Amino acid sequence: MRQILVAGNWKMNGSNAANQELIDGIVAGVPDGDGFQLLVCPPLPYLAVVAASATGSGVAVGAQNVSEHEAGAYTGETSAAMLKDVGCEYVIVGHSERRALYAESSAQVAAKFVAAQAGGLAPILCVGETLEEREAGTTESVIDEQLDAVLDAAGVAAFDSAVIAYEPVWAIGTGMTASPEQAQDVHRHIRERVAAKDAAVAAKVQILYGGSMKGENAPGLLSMQDIDGGLIGGASLKASDFLAIADAAAGN
Ligand code: PGA
Repeated sequence: MRQILVAGNWKMNGSNAANQELIDGIVAGVPDGDGFQLLVCPPLPYLAVVAASATGSGVAVGAQNVSEHEAGAYTGETSAAMLKDVGCEYVIVGHSERRALYAESSAQVAAKFVAAQAGGLAPILCVGETLEEREAGTTESVIDEQLDAVLDAAGVAAFDSAVIAYEPVWAIGTGMTASPEQAQDVHRHIRERVAAKDAAVAAKVQILYGGSMKGENAPGLLSMQDIDGGLIGGASLKASDFLAIADAAAGN
């Protein structure tokens, strides 16, 4: 049985005061049960303070980006070891906003994935198609290219300690959620592609759905066989909204 992971991607939002209120609200409302894990990914400057507030709560902390390099003259970059050092356990790599706005290639995303694991973090690899790609019928080939770049660079065994997030770009921040069936189709495809290399790894790897997930649609999405959690943007910025999804994960 795969554990459900409910991950909040706070993106570039908040302040010291707002983030403190948010993490305190989440920590205070963690549902009972052990079939799920909660994770928050605050902006970089707040990682250490949010990690300190989350200590002992069962809420894990992750970063939104990481350098593909280990150390050295890379102005403005942050290494996996540094993120680990300030309390992170996870890091998001290849979010569609980074691919689209910062021109991250699949090869660079794969290098970040490898660097994250080398630094002791569990990468959350985001893959997903745009609306044009879906309408052109190329959803699976787009995802295959994004996934294969990492499978080739890191090897399938690396997915023993990694997470995949299927995030259709057309559903991110738009209020347009993929239906449970639409998401399940792609999740199954992703698991089968990993299984073609290693069935045991595929059976174990968590595949999250991301794209306008909220308390109302979470139960339907989480009930699907190959959906093992969510990567949540907008609805992770209010403790009660995020906890509604956590409740769905806890089966409440
Ligand atoms: P959203 O964002 O929940 O606001 O659609 C999801 C994400 O970008 O990870």
